[in-house]
Amino acid sequence: MEEYMEREDIIKKLESDLESIKTKNDLQTIKASYLGKNGIVTNLSLKMKEIPNEEKKEYGKFLNLIKEEVTTKLNDKEQELDKMLLDMKLNNEKIDITLPSRRSLKGSIHPMTRIVEELEDLFVSMGYDVISGPEIDTDMNSFTKLNLPEGHPARDAQDTFYLDKDYLLRPHTSPAQVRTMEANKDKTPLRIVCPGKVYRRDDDATHSHQFMQFEGLVIGEDISLADLKGTLELFAKKLLGEKTNVRFRPSYFPFTEPSCEVDVTCFKCGGKGCSLCKQTGWIEVLGAGVVHPNVLRMSGYDPEKYTGFAFGPGIDRFAMFKYGITDIRQIYTNDIRFLEQFDRKDVD
Ligand code: PHE
Repeated sequence: MEEYMEREDIIKKLESDLESIKTKNDLQTIKASYLGKNGIVTNLSLKMKEIPNEEKKEYGKFLNLIKEEVTTKLNDKEQELDKMLLDMKLNNEKIDITLPSRRSLKGSIHPMTRIVEELEDLFVSMGYDVISGPEIDTDMNSFTKLNLPEGHPARDAQDTFYLDKDYLLRPHTSPAQVRTMEANKDKTPLRIVCPGKVYRRDDDATHSHQFMQFEGLVIGEDISLADLKGTLELFAKKLLGEKTNVRFRPSYFPFTEPSCEVDVTCFKCGGKGCSLCKQTGWIEVLGAGVVHPNVLRMSGYDPEKYTGFAFGPGIDRFAMFKYGITDIRQIYTNDIRFLEQFDRKDVD
């Protein structure tokens, strides 16, 4: 029974080896010294060839037993170590629930987003679709197809940011008219609005090099200036209040004929005259008109069959009025102290 003695000794030694270890690395070293190359158990297996044939069976049983015992002990230790390490980690990461919590930051809706959403709701309720166009557009869509002949002042680099000879930062949302007509190929009725940023080489307290417009386009049979008037009157009253009056002045845009500029009752003084309206009682808010036959034709609509109207207000002014903003540049500088004010209930 020499072998069994040896077995007990091996297990005892293993137990004492395992007793004091604290890391998985130590366990790995011990494992290797029993089961690895040149390990105690491995060497016992190698002895098999020296065992006389009649004892081989018995020796085999002994080997299996010891391997099983060693493996079980090593596995048990591994589990014990895992648990110990996890406990240690959990203890170290203990959360002090008596500490005051961190205040979560609450976002607010940007004043321009509020205006855009309000206008979109209004026009969607009148059957319009909302579309968006790219801020980088072509000279073709922004000018040529809007009947702006070469050499027109609006093409002048003073006003428009050109990227190269064909591409530019759109100086108005009117290319949305071209894009919509071309995408719809002579289908009517067409009723769209297109809110978006536009860019011009301008920068002072009331002009920003980037601002927002809200293009509108309607095309169908028998659409007239009267429809444009009715739509814009409704738009002004809904956005600025029922008391708002609307005034149409003849104007010129190459893409509309006739064209007009539209004024509304000054939103600061209500029409009495103040510094904002330069004592006139009126504020100019948009350009509009009946779509020029050339514009319809160039984008695939038959001007003999269809007519339309278009309008394009700059909407930053509406936000400035509604939220008492005095410098248009505040709208675009993303100063958190400015933006936080719009979280207050009273702006809703
Ligand atoms: N695009 C013109 C501008 O930016 C406004 C406009 C739009 C005029 C549609 C007529 C029709 O000034």
